[in-house]
Amino acid sequence: MAKTNDGWGSRIGLILAMAGNAVGLGNFLRFPVQAIQNGGGTFIIPYFVSFLVMGIPLLWIEWSMGRFGGVRGFHSTPFIVGSMGKKRMWKYVGTFAIFTNLGIISYYTYIESWTLSYTLKSIFQSFHGMNIHQVEAAFDTYAGVHGNLTDNKVDINVPGWGLLAFFVTLAVNIYILSKGLSAGIEKVAKFAMPLLVLFGVFLAIRGITLGHTGMPNCATCNSQSGLDFLWNPDFSSLANPKIWLAAAGQIFFTLSVGMGTIHCYAAYLKKNDDVALNAMSAGWMNEFVEIVLGASIVIPIAVGYMGLDWVKENAGFMMAFKTMPYLFNQWGVVLATLSGVAWFGLLFFAGITSSLAMGTPFIGFVEDEFGWSRKKGALVLGVLIMILALPTIFFFEYGVFDEYDYWTGTVALVVFALLEVILFSWIFGIKKGWREITQGSDIKIPNFYKFIIKWVTPIFILVIFVTALIKPLHGELSDWQLAFHQLFTQGTWPWANDSIIAQIFHLNQKIVYFKHGVPTGMFFKDMARLLLLSTFLLLSYFTHVADKKRKASTKTIES
Ligand code: ALA
Repeated sequence: MAKTNDGWGSRIGLILAMAGNAVGLGNFLRFPVQAIQNGGGTFIIPYFVSFLVMGIPLLWIEWSMGRFGGVRGFHSTPFIVGSMGKKRMWKYVGTFAIFTNLGIISYYTYIESWTLSYTLKSIFQSFHGMNIHQVEAAFDTYAGVHGNLTDNKVDINVPGWGLLAFFVTLAVNIYILSKGLSAGIEKVAKFAMPLLVLFGVFLAIRGITLGHTGMPNCATCNSQSGLDFLWNPDFSSLANPKIWLAAAGQIFFTLSVGMGTIHCYAAYLKKNDDVALNAMSAGWMNEFVEIVLGASIVIPIAVGYMGLDWVKENAGFMMAFKTMPYLFNQWGVVLATLSGVAWFGLLFFAGITSSLAMGTPFIGFVEDEFGWSRKKGALVLGVLIMILALPTIFFFEYGVFDEYDYWTGTVALVVFALLEVILFSWIFGIKKGWREITQGSDIKIPNFYKFIIKWVTPIFILVIFVTALIKPLHGELSDWQLAFHQLFTQGTWPWANDSIIAQIFHLNQKIVYFKHGVPTGMFFKDMARLLLLSTFLLLSYFTHVADKKRKASTKTIES
């Protein structure tokens, strides 16, 4: 096994890299959309509760698990997780985290490449003079989206320019990863994080101070209406399971918990390095960027020009690309250019500091277990990402991208977090676990967190998981009541399309793989699942090989 001599150069570098891991596209694109789609202020309370009882405990758990494994010479999740539980299955739970990262990084780097292209487009003022329809059409052309797929042929229309941007983005990621922690990731984080915050503050000030824009026939065209909608809490929603599910999902994604990246970064800490304060610093930095900056850009600016109703109806991930350049155009050429560069540049920096983290579990694994150099690991990672990403690019409109996001960016995080918290609190044991969290700590963690970590966090995640598993149609509280009524009176359950069970078995849909001899969306989705499953199996096989190698070498040493 290779001995890594990689490590973090400084504490601030580590915190910025960890914060960079968390701060990502999720803060600026996912958060505002989730908030708008889930009632604005209504969303905020479940969001904060999820942060306090699930997010913070998971941060502490993952940081201390990483350090625990790292001081024993493990730098990737299969053996970090495996070092805390005796049963062999824990290694494969850890393998799941490498798999999750590979899945997410594949579609994530593609979005990152959009932000790179759009930064360049902003510099070259490509959107100058365009109306909203033209800006939308420009995006559709760029991403190869037609909106009118026909049954008689497979439409693939991604322009060469889009592909080139993806390859460049991937190459930049791989290059930085090949440089290692302190000379690569840490350097980028030290530069990208402050710049990102600077760009964010500039745009947030615009968003907050925009006020009435005087758009004709639009009474709510006032950025303040957007902010009011986001920040007026509505306590009646606390009983709505749908909003809890969305809020907890956002906490997972934004903090990058349940992913395995935190473990791998923390594996380079020393035995008595603090984890409690470091984890809080990175976690709260993420929350500042998400709540203060993320909430003050897209929504208020869009509401300022399009009105609250339009934003509620049209809020979506793509708004960043399909709407923002048009909104910036309202500010004149110079400010539009500056804002475009700030917005897409900010997204690029946010994205890359997260995707770099997603690359580390795989590299740590092949370095530790197969003695590969970091460069070789990074190159092979690049090839794997390419293989996994190309289907999401070419068949974006056929749902492959969404399929990856659903399984690896949503479900997998909850599953992994549930298993790791059970391992940490119940199998490794909360007594030892608490000692790990508090060892070398620069702050005093309130004792009640011991109770939270042992009881509240696992139960909370379990409830979230079961709710997502069997979610009934529409998922509001009244829908659950109706669903149970239906179950007891008719013996059936009205599955929501996005419940995990309905997704696995394609419930509520006709299973058709070909129409007129041409593959359907379902075919592409199932192929995507097959590819993801094969990736997991392949990684599990390599974990098995690595485990055998380790056992063999221990035997040799003993004899
Ligand atoms: N935490 C990263 C994000 O929010 C993955 O995008």
